[in-house]
Amino acid sequence: MSNHEVPPLLGQVADAVSGAIGRVRPELAGADPVVRRSEHADFQANAALALAKRARARPADLAAELVAALGSGPIGTVEVSGPGFLNIRVPDAVVWGQVAARLGSSRLGVGLPDDGRRTVIDYSGPNIAKEMHVGHLRTTIIGDSLVRVLGFLGEEVVRQNHLGDWGTQFGMLIQYLDEHPEAAWHQDELSAGTSSVSALDELYKTARKEFDAEPAFADRSRQRVVDLQSGDPATLAKWKEIVAESEKAFRVIYDRLGVLLRPEDSVGESFYNPMLAETIDELVRAGLAVESDDALVIFSEEVTGPDGSPVPLMVRKRDGGYGYDTTDLATIRYRIHDLKATRLLYVTDSRQALHFKMIFEAARRMGWLTDAIEVEHVPFGTVLGKDGRPFKTRAGGTVRLMDLLDEAVARARAVVAEAEKNPELTDTDLDQIAELAGIGAVKYADLSTSRVKDYVFDPDRMVSFNGNTGVYLQYAHTRIRSILRRAGDPEVIVDPGVALEPAERALALQLDGYSAMLNEVSTTLEPHRLSGYLYELARDFTTFYESCRVLDADEPIRSNRLALCQLTARTLAHGLSLLGITAPERM
Ligand code: ARG
Repeated sequence: MSNHEVPPLLGQVADAVSGAIGRVRPELAGADPVVRRSEHADFQANAALALAKRARARPADLAAELVAALGSGPIGTVEVSGPGFLNIRVPDAVVWGQVAARLGSSRLGVGLPDDGRRTVIDYSGPNIAKEMHVGHLRTTIIGDSLVRVLGFLGEEVVRQNHLGDWGTQFGMLIQYLDEHPEAAWHQDELSAGTSSVSALDELYKTARKEFDAEPAFADRSRQRVVDLQSGDPATLAKWKEIVAESEKAFRVIYDRLGVLLRPEDSVGESFYNPMLAETIDELVRAGLAVESDDALVIFSEEVTGPDGSPVPLMVRKRDGGYGYDTTDLATIRYRIHDLKATRLLYVTDSRQALHFKMIFEAARRMGWLTDAIEVEHVPFGTVLGKDGRPFKTRAGGTVRLMDLLDEAVARARAVVAEAEKNPELTDTDLDQIAELAGIGAVKYADLSTSRVKDYVFDPDRMVSFNGNTGVYLQYAHTRIRSILRRAGDPEVIVDPGVALEPAERALALQLDGYSAMLNEVSTTLEPHRLSGYLYELARDFTTFYESCRVLDADEPIRSNRLALCQLTARTLAHGLSLLGITAPERM
């Protein structure tokens, strides 16, 4: 198999129309030919309407000139419709040629358009000694899918898990643990179903109460913060132990989700401690960071508060401490200067939009961020319960992610078992499929909604075999795989001389749009475009399979149709894998 890029028909047609524009109106060479997929033909070019004014012609006349100047190649027939639309049909043989070329490519004909980009992507970022919440589930899933898509398109992706592993709260927690050696929080001391982060989360809350009620404990805790910050070995050792134990608990979730995050991707807030002083120094020397009310701040030139005064970034707090803002200033500087990023992405919920806007502004004013570097906050909405309110347990607490995944897997198992689409499946098969389907369902539900929107976490809907769900797509893939198995998984040769049926044409053109859609995901950073594409693809396949016989068709039609089945199955499985979802062979 080759790994050559197969230029999509849309681009080929656009090039042909561009060529015609240059020939009839040399002064308009390079203008956008405005080519889109169309319901009336394969593609529609709106260039004549868009350019009529500049060409000082009636759209219909310009359209006629363009038709006359169009060559052949990807252009089969052209009709002018309405005030000057060009309805373009591609010759059947050219469409079959695309199918064959993509099928012969290990990359489905997708090129490496983003080659040369070095992308640092910040995602997941749970907080040490705190339970991961559903927001962390979203950043982990969205970030993972972006890592996969951008990496596939040729970007050199650097994953960064910005753990919340530093702060004054650790002083209090360490002091409390020292004074209560009986408190259980190591994974091996806990009962199954409790993780060390949830134990630590609880202990922290208890410590907090003691801190508020007992001035002596509060004093000892404050001293402990000083010890931690000045690197006292015993305190540091305890802190490291807390970090390691929490990371183990996060690891369990990551493994279950099957995300690409590795331990070496963990570069938490504490990593930037040694860089804070020089970062602040630079900010002060540049005159960006200024004293205000005993604190050191950067006043924004872009963001103002309700009273019209500029909003500050906190570089050093009044008590001398450094916080989230300080760390993110050092972080962006490091990612540009040391990691040499040309693209910087931060996947967090939309409530942090202002924070990042101000960090980017400061980095730009400092000259760290230049126009050669793309920087983007990739925000997402809130996960809601069925009642439309932010997702919480009945008691109002954070929902444990593991419980949530367990629930989705249990429902998926019930649905798959009940559907009995495959009576020969054993219990072990079912367990494995349920895991893939349940986890896939959770990811797909997230990745199929427009990223910035809030979405309702509804396990019943997620695992449904019908509608735009992960299970539907996984099942669509297994159906095609079963057709191909019955055919003996042959190596087929596509005969370009076969006439295309309308349903075949629709399916082939959808398959041909795979690379353009992936490019859109890269520019918009919206994985739901990929989900939407796969859903349409599965539906185009269904229409094709309902109207075209495959296994009992005569040759060479049979082989051509098997080629469509193969390319659809491979594209579905590949697209799902870019969403981080496994497509099983049977279910
Ligand atoms: N720990 C943060 C949270 O839980 C997310 C970190 C995001 N990354 C960053 N560079 N600030 O909200």
